[in-house]
Formats: sequence, structure tokens, C-alpha cells
Amino acid sequence: MNDLQGKRIVLGVTGGIAAYKACELARLIGKAGADVDVVMTEAATQFVAPLTFQALTGRPVQVSMWQTDRANGMAHIDLTRGADALLVAPATADFIAKLAHGFADDLLSSLCLARDCPLLIAPAMNRQMWINPATQRNVAQVRGDGVVILGPASGEQACGEVGEGRMLEAEALCQALIAFFQPKLLAGKRVLLTAGPTQEPLDPVRVLTNLSSGKMGYALARACAEAGASVTLVSGPVCLPTPAGVTRIDVVSALEMRDAVINALPADIFIAVAAVADYRPAAPAAHKIKKGAERLTLDLVANPDILAEVAALPDAPFCVGFAAESQQLAEYAEAKRRAKRLPLVVGNLVQDGLGGEANQITLFDAAGSHPLPPGDKLTLARAIVRHIAEMIHAHD
Ligand code: PMT
Repeated sequence: MNDLQGKRIVLGVTGGIAAYKACELARLIGKAGADVDVVMTEAATQFVAPLTFQALTGRPVQVSMWQTDRANGMAHIDLTRGADALLVAPATADFIAKLAHGFADDLLSSLCLARDCPLLIAPAMNRQMWINPATQRNVAQVRGDGVVILGPASGEQACGEVGEGRMLEAEALCQALIAFFQPKLLAGKRVLLTAGPTQEPLDPVRVLTNLSSGKMGYALARACAEAGASVTLVSGPVCLPTPAGVTRIDVVSALEMRDAVINALPADIFIAVAAVADYRPAAPAAHKIKKGAERLTLDLVANPDILAEVAALPDAPFCVGFAAESQQLAEYAEAKRRAKRLPLVVGNLVQDGLGGEANQITLFDAAGSHPLPPGDKLTLARAIVRHIAEMIHAHD
């Protein structure tokens, strides 16, 4: 997806071992459609050669203040003029200290000081350097100055120690950059979502389930987080990474999903994307059911309808339902909206089954039906977020 089309990003690289991850980051930002100008410190060139970045971005790499390929010799000012953001990844403890105190003794720190665009930094350092009060003081100062701090992550470090201080992975940083540019339509809102299938146990080794992949719900969770909401995602069993900034609660069955949703309230918005099993085996067998009889009849009982229960609460959040239909989408989706008294239902045609990367969606609200152009699930999720935000702000 070309989420950064038309943007120009200055990528600053300072001297830490995580500089090798900045190569992949430069590639991802470029792949997302942006022009990437890389600026390295001298120390960074000890870890990765400028030529690597030049090959990945197709643009010259700047290292020195004294490179005079600019007509006016003012690279330290020119490079951020017209840029949409300056991202420093990795940002070492030393570089953050420079930022905190306004030093400008090399090209990158001078650019930071002379910039007229937003600055984002991805700290990367040994865990002791990170928790050192001096570093924490500097990070607080820099944050207070309006710099966006991305990470750091926790885990195994290049030095062999384990703790907080690792740079976020390139993919996560690229997503954070994309999120940075999304309009904050849901700022201050608490969004609760369900996603994925549920599994209803038949016996210790078998379940009743469906083919929901969770992709639509996860795309919506990401779109809500990008829009500035605080997001809790109650997820059935899926193989998807948690979107950045989203709190995820894993559940298996419909009953667990219902309890997790009720416990996660209050929320301002509840979006039920999960394909919840309507029925569960009345009495799951304690031991594996043995093959024997020619026919086997399952005794099923209805699961609680989570969305209906939340929508009926006295202080109900703004509730959004989903309807997956293989035919008569408008009729069935509108029926679900009315039955559960929902302000909005997202109807999707699932003739080709679940789990794909794209979707075909129509929104149903009191004003009528609003078909969206077919698209990938993240693009559609962002369109759904825009519609929800419009409805909420009209109501406010
Ligand atoms: O996960 P993917 O592979 O990306 O696929 C996404 C999806 C097709 C599963 C998703 O877009 C979708 O449409 N989910 C709802 C499926 C459906 O039709 O559910 P339903 O008709 O059983 O329920 C209607 C609404 O009530 C849904 O919002 C559902 O989450 C909710 N519900 C249903 C039953 C129940 N016990 N509790 C509920 O909350």
C-alpha cells in the first residue's frame, strides 16, 4: 500500500548496532511511496556504509556538514525544508542527550535544531543506558519539546543482556510513521473491538469454529489506534500480530469473549467484528469422543449475543455491528441493525469465503446505505473509522 505516497521523509541514522535495521526501514518507507533522504552521523558509518542506503533509496546520502554539493552550502537547513517528517532511527543515548541540550555539532543534530517539520526518534541502546536517570531526564526533556518517541522495545540486546532499550523493528517503525500522518479523528475515545472466530469445545481435542481470519477486526483495531483512540481488542484464536498501541485480550470461546468484553467496559465505541459461534455444545465431553456409531447428533445451546447485550446496556457505547452475508446483503444487514438497535452495521459480501485480504462493504445507518469501493481491509477500516467519527461528532 502506498500509505506514504507524496511524502518526503528525512531518515537520520546514528551510531548504534541497530543501524543495520535502519536499512530495512529505509526500504519499507520507500516501498510505502515516500522519497527518503538518509542523513548519517560519522559514527553510524562505522556500522553501515552510506552506499547501502544510497542503493536502497536511490538518493544521495549526507554525512558531513562540509559536503558542498548544495549550491548554497546549507545542507543543515535545506534538507528538512519541504520534508514531511524527520525520523531518527536508531537514536543513541548520546544523540538524545544532544537533542535535549540543543547541540548542533554535526549535520544530523544541526538538522534537528534547524528543522521546520515534525521530529520522531526511535531510541536504541543498552538497557542500563536506557534506565540511567540522565537518559530518562533527556528523553522527558525531548518529549516535552514536542518530539515523538517511538519505543524502545524490550527483549534480547546485541550485548547479550535482556531488557528495555532495543529499537522497534523496522516494520513497526514504518507503521508508526504511517500512523503519525493519519488524522486523529478518534482522539480521546476508548474503542473496544472483537475480532476473529470463536472455538466451542466438543471434547478435549475438537472444537466447532468458523473460517474468520481476524484480518478485518485487526485492520479496524489498527485504524482506530492510528486515529488516536485507546484501543482494546478482544480476539478469538488467530495468527496475526497485535497492531501497535493496541491492548489485546486473547479468548477462545464465545462465553470467554462475552466475559472479556463486559470486563473491558466502559468504552465510547464498541465494534463487534468477531464471527461469534451462535451455538456451543451443551455439554463438552470430558474425554475424546470415540468413533463408533454411524450417526452422531450434537446437542447445541445458544451462545449469548455479545453485541445485543452491550447495545442494551443503559450507558451503552456507540455500537457497530458487522453482517457477513453471501446474498441479500442489504436486507439481512438492515434487519440485524434494527433487531439490535444499532446506529451502524457494516455489511460485507462473503461469497468467496472469509480470510481474504480485500473486502466489499456497505455501511447501513439510519440515513440509508453507503456502499464503499472494494478495497483492502485496512483502507476499508480507515473509511469505516471516518464514518463512525462523522456520526459521533454529528451526535455530539
Ligand atoms: O476475520 P476475517 O476473515 O477478516 O472476516 C471478517 C468477517 C467476515 C468475519 C467480519 O467482517 C464479519 O462480517 N463479522 C461478523 C460476522 C457475522 O455475520 O456475524 P453474525 O451475523 O453472527 O453477527 C452479527 C453481529 O453480532 C456481528 O457484529 C457479531 O460480531 C455480533 N455477534 C454475533 C453473535 C454473538 N453471539 N455475539 C455477537 O456479538
